[in-house]
Amino acid sequence: MMNKKTIRDIDVAGKRVLVRVDFNVPLDAEQHITDDTRIRAAVPTIEYLLEHETAVILMSHLGRPKGKAIETMRLTPVAQRLSALLHKPVQLAPDCIGPEVEALARNLQPGQVFLLENLRFHDEEEKNDPAFARQLASLADIYVNDAFGTAHRAHASTEGVTHYLPGVAGFLMEKEINFLGGALENPRRPFAAIVGGAKVSDKIAVLERLIGMVDMLLIGGGMANTFLKAEGYEIGDSLYEEGKVDVASELINKAHQRDLEFLLPTDVVIADRFAADANHRVVASSEVPKGWRIMDIGPETITTFRKALSSAETIVFNGTLGVAEMPAFAGGTDAMIEMLAERTKAGATTIIGGGDSAAAVEQAGAAEKMSHVSTGGGASLEFLEGRVLPGVAALQDK
Ligand code: 3PG
Repeated sequence: MMNKKTIRDIDVAGKRVLVRVDFNVPLDAEQHITDDTRIRAAVPTIEYLLEHETAVILMSHLGRPKGKAIETMRLTPVAQRLSALLHKPVQLAPDCIGPEVEALARNLQPGQVFLLENLRFHDEEEKNDPAFARQLASLADIYVNDAFGTAHRAHASTEGVTHYLPGVAGFLMEKEINFLGGALENPRRPFAAIVGGAKVSDKIAVLERLIGMVDMLLIGGGMANTFLKAEGYEIGDSLYEEGKVDVASELINKAHQRDLEFLLPTDVVIADRFAADANHRVVASSEVPKGWRIMDIGPETITTFRKALSSAETIVFNGTLGVAEMPAFAGGTDAMIEMLAERTKAGATTIIGGGDSAAAVEQAGAAEKMSHVSTGGGASLEFLEGRVLPGVAALQDK
């Protein structure tokens, strides 16, 4: 359980509260929000604060504007969406610091809320500049961090500000840490992890940690190619990381030493080029011809994975198992999502660790069928790796 104070542990009534949220949501070319999960996920904290007679000042980054005001990265669509979700006006401030913003904060009444403009329009945010952090802090009496998705960044709004204001966690932060942390500290067993994604190099640290904890480790996605190579398979024109074959071998050895069930794809869907409409077929993992590349796990692998997971009581899923954005190569990922939904229904704890896998679950309309879908991409990965998240460390201990 999280050992940090939350908004429940302090008296917030009558206070002005500065809340860091992660409203870094995907937008299309017309600045329409294509997935508002992160905004919806922050609503319980905001509503609790408003109901407890506080004046709420929200702040977030969006994209990577690198210290400049960029029109397409304004938080205008976010303020609109939040307003619709809260059934309340949500004014967007012209900036995140400065006299106008200070006046807005001063005049804010309990039960009212406004949103600061994109923090990263100032490069002091990412530099964790103390003067900038102090200016943010000057707007309020209390600081709340509910931005789990940005907790791996030591920025002014996630870390610096806590030097000037008492900081506690919001409900989303608490939920994320209790689910992800709970799964790792005290999992109901058997404990399975499904790890995919493009590159082994991104997942070495998390694999090392999981190997020491899980009973089953199921590998898919582009990174499985490097493991297949380590097993001595010819994998045709599949992308793999040449410099990581040794690491993959070591991980396989560690898994065998620990005597856990370590499953690589035994068959794969291959394509003659990297395209949604490419020719494709299923072959054994050891028989990928030249000119073809692996795009997904195959049906036999899906059956094996399903069988393994059928007894799992805790399942962590991080990274997609194929090229999930192309329907012809989404079969493995979709089958696992279906299996996870089944296991959740049967009482298992299922945790989707952010990023691509969370997007795939959202896409499949299955988010409600999981125990927990993390709103953090990089943050959930770093948390699963066992790293201290600076945005969490900075909050007051219980
Ligand atoms: C994310 O989307 O992972 C977070 O909002 C952090 O964004 P960043 O990777 O640009 O710091």
